[in-house]
Amino acid sequence: MKRAADAVRIALLGHGNVGAETARALSGRAEELAARVGAPVQLAGVAVRGPRSLPGIDDALVTTDAEALVTRGDIDVVVELIGGVEPARTLVAAAMEAGASVVTANKALIASEGVDLHRIARKQGVGLAYEAAVAGAVPLLRPLNQSLVGDRVRRVTGIVNGTTNYILDRMSASGGTFQGALHEAQRLGYAEADPTADVTGADAAAKMAILARLAFDAEVPVGDVHYEGITHIGPGDIAHAAANGCVIKLVGVCDRTPDGVSARVHPMLIPLEHPLAGVRGVYNGILVEAEAAGELMFHGHGAGGLATSSAVLGDIVELSRDRVAGRVAPPAGFSRILPLRPMAEVANQHHLSMLVTDESGVLSQVCAVFAQHGVSLETVRQEGLGAEAQLVVATHQATDAALAEVIAQLKTLPTVRGITRSIRILQTRKEPVG
Ligand code: HSE
Repeated sequence: MKRAADAVRIALLGHGNVGAETARALSGRAEELAARVGAPVQLAGVAVRGPRSLPGIDDALVTTDAEALVTRGDIDVVVELIGGVEPARTLVAAAMEAGASVVTANKALIASEGVDLHRIARKQGVGLAYEAAVAGAVPLLRPLNQSLVGDRVRRVTGIVNGTTNYILDRMSASGGTFQGALHEAQRLGYAEADPTADVTGADAAAKMAILARLAFDAEVPVGDVHYEGITHIGPGDIAHAAANGCVIKLVGVCDRTPDGVSARVHPMLIPLEHPLAGVRGVYNGILVEAEAAGELMFHGHGAGGLATSSAVLGDIVELSRDRVAGRVAPPAGFSRILPLRPMAEVANQHHLSMLVTDESGVLSQVCAVFAQHGVSLETVRQEGLGAEAQLVVATHQATDAALAEVIAQLKTLPTVRGITRSIRILQTRKEPVG
């Protein structure tokens, strides 16, 4: 890596909420940042889509030609904040080919192209950092990639999407519907006008692919991360969870078991005493379990211009320090490709509610179905409802495939009137690690 000249020169791609806060800090806190880096950190150019003046930025620094900016040869660190895969991928690759290090907050880019971008960074001997791409301001990637790199991470369990966490939290507090809470989130600016990526779980899946790569030092294709969203969750589900001492949250999990590695996103029942149950509103919370370190909890703002700029600036300072020292700290080269286990083979505890006729022998029939498919029961509770009863069952760890077989067979029993609810339960892991 080439050493920065007398100052570290930064090119900013994009001037939205995060870009504007980052630019403001670079000028407003220039002395402080220079002291931390060991050289002045200068904004050398800002690329925007259409020509315009930017508050606090000299017009001469503003350009619409992002490619010319990143390849002009005197840029030390390119900060990509335009989002989306293209043209961000082309620009980031061109910047690294031209010898610049890259900071990005772009989760879609890193989830889909991150492994290739790591390769380019290594080949070019430049830095690539993206702390802001997962969980905004919450320091998570650097702890996984540096502080815990000598340990063995077993599992990362996270609430990594603030929009869905806000919606579910509001539904809990108000007893209202998904649509009502979504509209409120949109009114407050917590949800996009098109909330699809958030409410389907796709946004969280991209983040879990990135986390799984760093946690397990492996290539993890984002397309292999199973995800389910929250659009089907209603006030009845939330009330039922509360009656069972739980909250429902959209949870991302990546874990390593003796059977392999999984990464997935889906709603889960979380017992109130679990640390993730206390992650409220738009906050993100991530529990990392490592063999030696044990449980580590990270919590904070997962989005927002100012909060996210904190992570971007941290990356800028780190890569700028490398530049000043003339040292190369390229990102990890993942040591293997880890195919993820298909969701059908992933084991969880499950919570199942069903309406049954209230007569003798029904409970034993139902329990027999679970036993036939090797699904062990942790608790069974019956609530009488006149001629019918509600059976509420919590299983021990069972695969999705086994549970689907159980449900299919239960539905054939004349005494089972319907399966009213089925949701996975988040428990603290107890089984040995492979
Ligand atoms: N829309 C995301 C969230 C933030 O709600 O957490 C950006 O990934």
